[in-house]
Amino acid sequence: MSITMILCLQLKETNLTRLCLNKTVMTVNDSFPGPVISVHRGDTAYVNLHNHADFGITIHWHGVKQPRNPWSDGPVYITQCPIEPGKNFTYEIIFTREIGTLWWHAHSDWTRATVHGAIVILPSEGMGYPFPEPDGEEVVVISSWHKVDIDPDVEEEDTIEDIALPSSSAYTINGQPGDFCNCSKESTYHWLVDPGKTYLIHLVNGVMDVEMFFAIGHHNLTVVGMDGSYVKPLDTSYVMISPGQTMDILVTTNQPAGRYYMAARQFDTERPDIQADTDRQNATAILQYTGSYPNTSVPYFPAALPTYGDLTAGYSFRSRIRSLASKEYPIDVPKNITTHMYVVAAVDYIYRTNESGTTNVTAASLNNASWWNPPLDILMAYYRNVSGIYTADFPDKPPNYYNFAADELPDLITTPATKVKVLDYNEEVEIVLQGTDGIKHSTDHPMHLHGYAFYVVGYGHGNFNNETDPLGFNLIDPPEQNTVSLPKQGWTAIRFRASNPGVWLWHCHFDKHYTWGMNTVFIVKNGGTPETSVKGPPAYMPPCKSSALRLQKAGNSISGNTEEE
Ligand code: C2O
Ligand code: CU
Repeated sequence: MSITMILCLQLKETNLTRLCLNKTVMTVNDSFPGPVISVHRGDTAYVNLHNHADFGITIHWHGVKQPRNPWSDGPVYITQCPIEPGKNFTYEIIFTREIGTLWWHAHSDWTRATVHGAIVILPSEGMGYPFPEPDGEEVVVISSWHKVDIDPDVEEEDTIEDIALPSSSAYTINGQPGDFCNCSKESTYHWLVDPGKTYLIHLVNGVMDVEMFFAIGHHNLTVVGMDGSYVKPLDTSYVMISPGQTMDILVTTNQPAGRYYMAARQFDTERPDIQADTDRQNATAILQYTGSYPNTSVPYFPAALPTYGDLTAGYSFRSRIRSLASKEYPIDVPKNITTHMYVVAAVDYIYRTNESGTTNVTAASLNNASWWNPPLDILMAYYRNVSGIYTADFPDKPPNYYNFAADELPDLITTPATKVKVLDYNEEVEIVLQGTDGIKHSTDHPMHLHGYAFYVVGYGHGNFNNETDPLGFNLIDPPEQNTVSLPKQGWTAIRFRASNPGVWLWHCHFDKHYTWGMNTVFIVKNGGTPETSVKGPPAYMPPCKSSALRLQKAGNSISGNTEEE
């Protein structure tokens, strides 16, 4: 284990022109997507983030397990308060078994749209790859681009309003929408390759609200890694990747020298008659062979790229992924489950009452609890024993049973709450997630757990049957992921051992649904020894400024890390 690097990231406003429009957006180091962080397996990296914006921000290291170190995990009001304008904060990023590709992104408000980048994790010295060593590596980040401005302070609102992330105007590959979008042809991203080589692509889905298909014209793909773990090599002509997910993909340049489109297209799981904010643009980049050939022809578009609503293509790709589960890269699937949870994810409504009466406001919930951000982060409240910030009653089962997978559901009403689930150290947890078609806006939900990777042991369509469905669980080589796509009107089952003490967010990685409250938190207790306990906080944590007054009103006294305004 070694310290790879001390990195300095500058968060600031940058002017970028996309789709014929010049716009000011937040970036890190003026680049969109942001800089690649490259480490070796098992390294620890220190990243000093300087905030030059005029609002608070935090950064999350998506998929890095951060053993015993929730202090540097990043989600705002979960493990820290915002890094205020003009201030800086040093994140300690502790890598252990992660390998291949992960990513980092802002984790406050909707700033992650432009504040994100790839993390490349190379094998540690002397370790090598479990496949022939690639001749080269390439980072491919898919992102959303919004023509309209995104309100940076939206999550800080503590009133119940109907808020929705504006839909994107285009998707981008390595920051560029590509040849098929207005005013974009000049700036399409090009990847120069030599013929007859094998390259390793580090693919990141950094888009805000939809799953994506990705393919390369005339070239087959071999998926060898996902979410920072190796998988059994999977040959395919396209991939489906959810927001939050990452993949390692081998591609061999065995085609006639020429130009080929790499293309990304939305995988849309909403009902075709409902679809509201579908972005029909295809994002493209060009894989371009070196050497001489007539450069005039149009690049080959991947015919294998599935269409928007192709559920079969989306689901069948996902069902083919298996862990490598080899001697060098073993897996350890929990088999003596001590905590069973059945968690219903729904898009629903909250009642809002004001002078003009009672109306419905769109919300989202897990087991009918719609997350409400507390004024002090959960981690500090837990660590310092501050009462009145959260309750430990997140339900293991849905409070009401109905036909979750039905096409027509009555209006579902939820309530805002800050309910967490407390786990004992080393508990073996199984969560069956159940999707619904609440307010007919059913889509997949890419559910992401911080601090862990989990095994995806099963999934299916319709309602989960707790007698017959477990018989089909894959306990031999289930993929180890940090983000799993919960099928629309279906279910997925995951398992993990709660061996990482701390406070860990668990949420839908569609930012729209996250803002609406589709999240909760696991508090994993200490195991009784120093090596099994949360580390002490760093000397400096960003103070929870705006919360001080609200906390006083609630009759709490808090020590240490808060400041009066
Ligand atoms: Cu990729 Cu909670 O995030
Ligand atoms: Cu969702």
